Amino acid sequence: MLRLPLAILAAVLAAAPAFAQTADGRPPLVVQGAMSVEVDKLAGLLENVVIDRVGPWTFWRGTLDGYPVIVSKTLKGIANAAAATVLAVEHYHPAAIINQGTAGGHDPRLKLYDIVVGVSSVYIGAFRSPYRAAGTGSNPLEWVPLNLVASEGSAGTDPAALKIARFEGDARLLDAARHATSAYTRARIFEGVIGTSDMWNDEIDLIARFHRDYGTDVEEMETASAAQTAALLGVPFLGIRVVSDNTTNGSAFDPKTGEACEDYVRDVAKAYAAALRR
Ligand code: 5AD
Repeated sequence: MLRLPLAILAAVLAAAPAFAQTADGRPPLVVQGAMSVEVDKLAGLLENVVIDRVGPWTFWRGTLDGYPVIVSKTLKGIANAAAATVLAVEHYHPAAIINQGTAGGHDPRLKLYDIVVGVSSVYIGAFRSPYRAAGTGSNPLEWVPLNLVASEGSAGTDPAALKIARFEGDARLLDAARHATSAYTRARIFEGVIGTSDMWNDEIDLIARFHRDYGTDVEEMETASAAQTAALLGVPFLGIRVVSDNTTNGSAFDPKTGEACEDYVRDVAKAYAAALRR
């Protein structure tokens, strides 16, 4: 194997960043989605596209109506979403991040194709279970939430950490989302709460607990993770989710909902870019 002296290798790496900045140097808007059914349409709408890849993560770098936009396929789940968010922030220094895609309803009134704009997102994947003796089973309805970013100490014993981790949507992005609502004619748009974990929940009593205690309207597997990462790195963030399934009213997963969400998010991105120009 060919070996370069370390000093030369370091110089080569420094001179050749893995990504280029957007063409005009303006900070881009990053739009994330986990799966092909959530990003392919948006990526196809970009002009002058260049594709950047890091391992399994793909970034389509281009413009939308002349404004720099990066579409990021984060892959599924909280670890992948956090990793993709760090990569995006480190390499593109974005003005803002939108995480969007499919989600399961936590409210029986939510129909397929309805969209929930995330006034906040909550992390419904971190809990402490109260002690139970061997042979007495398990009851997730009793579990106490853990906020893993609330304190430096042991989260399970610090009272400050014994509440749900919640991340607020950015006001300017929310404004852009409101501007775009009238163009979405496929179904309704609500402002609400997005719940995130690495689980797909179909237990109606557990879903009812999340809905009652934390206000969740939909659940999915990326938004709060990306929101937490964006918050820790100081980047404005908004989650937008389309109802693709709803076990509380018996609606099975419809992957086409992902494209409807992309249509709406395109309009939100344009409204955001227009507001930045003003
Ligand atoms: N529960 C969890 N994740 C869901 N998703 C769509 N519906 C649900 C649901 N009911 C999304 C997740 C993940 C993939 C499984 O689809 O965000 O990316």
